[in-house]
Amino acid sequence: MAGIYVHIPFCKQACNYCNFHFSTSLKQKNDFVAALLKEIDFQKEYLVNEPVETIYFGGGTPSLLTETELNDIFQKLQSAFSIHQNAEVTLEANPDDIDSEKLLQWKTAGVNRLSIGVQSFFEEDLSWMNRAHNAQQSLDSIKNAQDKGFENITMDLIYGLPEMTNEHWKTNVEKAVSLNVPHLSCYALTVEPKTALQNLIIKKKAHNIEPDKQAEQFLLLMDWLNKAGYEHYEISNFAKPGKRSRHNSSYWEGKNYLGLGPSAHSYNGISRQWNIANNGIYIKSLLREDKMNFEKEELSQTQRLNEYIMTSLRTIEGCDLNFIEENFGENVKNRIMKDSQKYLTRKLIRGDKSRLTLTREGKLLADGIAADLFFENI
Ligand SMILES: C[S@@+](CC[C@H](N)C(=O)[O-])C[C@H]1O[C@@H](n2cnc3c(N)ncnc32)[C@H](O)[C@@H]1O
Ligand code: SF4
Repeated sequence: MAGIYVHIPFCKQACNYCNFHFSTSLKQKNDFVAALLKEIDFQKEYLVNEPVETIYFGGGTPSLLTETELNDIFQKLQSAFSIHQNAEVTLEANPDDIDSEKLLQWKTAGVNRLSIGVQSFFEEDLSWMNRAHNAQQSLDSIKNAQDKGFENITMDLIYGLPEMTNEHWKTNVEKAVSLNVPHLSCYALTVEPKTALQNLIIKKKAHNIEPDKQAEQFLLLMDWLNKAGYEHYEISNFAKPGKRSRHNSSYWEGKNYLGLGPSAHSYNGISRQWNIANNGIYIKSLLREDKMNFEKEELSQTQRLNEYIMTSLRTIEGCDLNFIEENFGENVKNRIMKDSQKYLTRKLIRGDKSRLTLTREGKLLADGIAADLFFENI
């Protein structure tokens, strides 16, 4: 079973914190769709004989696609790949793009899961982030989607803004829970290089983020959502029973996936490849030069092992020591058990002979602990 990710590299305006690949000029949207259809032809063989279980339209802003554009992409995917009858099909949508007409178009096209970029229900947060929507649109978009029969909805929220109090964060989480949304992705605000936010902080026009405050809000978040019946199945992701993201879970389980569109990554168990993160060059290569523009890296055993340690520790299932032994050998397993001892003593990791998982406090240090368990060479 495999997954397909389609990157739609356009946004109406740039949020101050975001350094994902996107352009705010929509001039090249038509050419982009033509190039994407061609890329699908080129990549037909990538998942040969593997049924596609999940499709994820991400971005950028996939909700900017017109009905015709989305249908054309969908039909092309269906003709090129063997898509499972019960595939999970997710589309990321920004609240300002969501209306009854679009919702029905998405339903008809086959979208059965919506990821709505709410970020906050407070006006001041949204304008501080330079989001294109207001708080009322955040609320209305969820209700409208539910009215139109979208029950499998996930919402993105951001915490740890410089001015965000714990009370304020609690209101956002309570609102999300009260809306009966079965899946939440909650991210600590990160100051990414070359973003407007980084610039504002350098020029002292915005306060910097406070890691201690973010840690406190993450601990509160875990408590609130646990009480509300959500399973914390990955560091940033919470789901009601049966509502985990099948697509993202397949990344964490190391399944194969094909990424289409500029900047998209693909993985087939042996190598990883990534498309050029430039709309103009992506389009020119495919439409004029009849070729794809991408880079590729064969993964060494050590890279594979380190990636497994990093992703598995972030999940509820944790790091499976039997899997490590079967795939990387007994010595590797023994060294991980030895190196994790100090975290077991400090109660940052809990574990037995077969599995290591992060404790509540350990989750605060997930990436650092994983990096410390990495191998230089096996
Ligand atoms: C790249 S966006 C794409 C979805 C859609 N365009 C939107 O904005 O809702 C995916 C999510 O990543 C999160 N995100 C992006 N940059 C972030 C940052 N610097 N800090 C925290 N969260 C971030 C936001 O919550 C956003 O909804
Ligand atoms: S957060 Fe979403 S809408 Fe904002 S710039 Fe990034 S991709 Fe675009």
